[in-house]
Amino acid sequence: MSDKPTILVTRKLPQNVEDRLARDFEARFNVDDTLYTQEQIVELAEGCDGIVACHSEHFDRAQFEWLPKSVKILAAFSVGIDWIDLDAAKDNGVVVTNTPDVLNDATAEVAILCMLGAARRASEGERMVRAAEWTWWSPSFMVGTQVTGKTLGIVGMGRVGRIVAKRAKYGFDMNIRYSNRSRLSPELEDGATFHETVEDMLRHCDFLSLNCPATPDTIDLMNAERLALLPDGAILVNTSRGAVVDEDALIGALNSGKLAAAGLDVYKGEPGVNPKIAELANTFLMPHIGSSTFETRDAMGFLALDNLDAFFLGKEPPTRVA
Ligand code: 8YV
Repeated sequence: MSDKPTILVTRKLPQNVEDRLARDFEARFNVDDTLYTQEQIVELAEGCDGIVACHSEHFDRAQFEWLPKSVKILAAFSVGIDWIDLDAAKDNGVVVTNTPDVLNDATAEVAILCMLGAARRASEGERMVRAAEWTWWSPSFMVGTQVTGKTLGIVGMGRVGRIVAKRAKYGFDMNIRYSNRSRLSPELEDGATFHETVEDMLRHCDFLSLNCPATPDTIDLMNAERLALLPDGAILVNTSRGAVVDEDALIGALNSGKLAAAGLDVYKGEPGVNPKIAELANTFLMPHIGSSTFETRDAMGFLALDNLDAFFLGKEPPTRVA
């Protein structure tokens, strides 16, 4: 009988991470990466001390109430914790941790990718070339929107938002504006213009990047009223959560030309994407790959394990959220 804590791992994690898990814990791996149901997670967690899970799972109050009482920690393999009912975790004596900071650069890369992809019509061009439909050229061929020197508004100037600002400012000479729950220090602002409200910022934005968490306050934040405040021809980028955008309003704005284009990495109901969005040519669509790099996924896994190590040593986990 090992004295190592027993950990249920709900998805297949990077090999380096699973190797460390196997070394330091009694780990129950998801070898073929099937998507477990809530019931299966309850069964598989029998006798476990902790769980490592991903945003593909849904830890609501029922899930926590069904979990074996031996489970004392949920180490999320994500920074976003909108898929976890933190109050229910507390009520059921389960500590929750996440993986902030280690994915900032990778996610910011995808925000810039979505901004460029949408502005320069990358999907259309890519599809045309692959389908051998590129048969002519003219000065008016595939004309897009320039990014360099334009104004980028950032909703949610947190860890990821600040890196997006930095890449946009120093990589594309963009003017940065932001709205945030609180104003940042001059050092963190780095010359960006603060707006007390999103509404006040929108009319200045050629580009808008959503980098805020999905919370009760940000659900459908970008609705028809707010989209209407953007300049005509603005471009929206979302690498946060699909929940912060009213997709019907987004579709309307893309069809009317209010928005010239949108670059999206996250969606409501993903991995299913609203067909009305998928059919729009003026969209650049990625399948939630924000943190999807070898380096970042390893780092996310190791941070999740750092949290488990600390917890089972009776220390405060480094990135505890509940
Ligand atoms: C992860 C993310 O890919 O960290 C997050 O919140 O959305 C992505 O980095 C995903 O959540 C994995 O669980």
